[in-house]
Amino acid sequence: MIRESELCPAKVNLFLSVGPKDGRGYHPLRTVFQAVGLFDQVQVEEAELDSVSFSVPGIGDQNTVSRALRLMREIADFPPLKVTVEKQIPIQSGLGGGSSDAAGLIRIIRKICHVPLPEAELHQVALAIGADVPFFLVGGKARATGYGEILTPLPDDACRWLCLIWPGVGCSTPEMFKRLDEISFPWVDFPHGVGGSHNDFERVAPCECLELIEQLESLGARQARLSGSGSSVFGVFDSAEEAEAARSQLPKYHATSWVVPTLSRAESLCRS
Ligand code: C5P
Repeated sequence: MIRESELCPAKVNLFLSVGPKDGRGYHPLRTVFQAVGLFDQVQVEEAELDSVSFSVPGIGDQNTVSRALRLMREIADFPPLKVTVEKQIPIQSGLGGGSSDAAGLIRIIRKICHVPLPEAELHQVALAIGADVPFFLVGGKARATGYGEILTPLPDDACRWLCLIWPGVGCSTPEMFKRLDEISFPWVDFPHGVGGSHNDFERVAPCECLELIEQLESLGARQARLSGSGSSVFGVFDSAEEAEAARSQLPKYHATSWVVPTLSRAESLCRS
């Protein structure tokens, strides 16, 4: 009887620069992903029929996990599965929760299959679900080009601590790209040294996000940025105590903020 579970970490973008819109209406990206210790959990049990359910309402049938299950059936042979997802990562927050959950299910199915599945096929399935999904098969810290899917794994940094805040305002990804199309700015290259954080979406982010970034900076964050297209923001600190001290100065966001460590590659791919 199959019974497996996997922890699925969130990500932040330490660097994110957006190129000009291409012929398909998509924008090429330069980004540095970092997995962080806020987790959803995907659980899988053998069942009579495939099913997918979530611990929170409002996630429709066209979700990344159902998509992963359907696409994995096309390349692998495994029994019907009941999949349940315990959500902790806020939805549509720029933290990659949906992408990470899909990659978590791919990792579980890879494990329960008796024949090894080629990495290239798993990458193709991940990419078909979304451009951020392949990163969650790599984990840790990685640099990405293309639309976020051409990945170069980077060595693990020393653990740092993030004060991560979800301000609760909505940031629809297509809307944020559209806002960027209305302004002109250069396509920023990757930083040459270490550090060098950046996010083009801050040019068009809601003022709540920009205010929080300023507050995190004034509370001593080494870097403070929007993650992805928002609306989550994060401040980077050297210790959990410093990150917690900053968090305690932001009581309005107590219910939707976390102090989390950056994760090494091994930590971000570990099972629960
Ligand atoms: O990848 P996702 O389906 O979330 O993208 C939603 C929309 O965001 C796309 O239809 C496109 O308009 C825009 N987008 C983009 N460039 C990207 C990713 C998304 O323009 N690299």
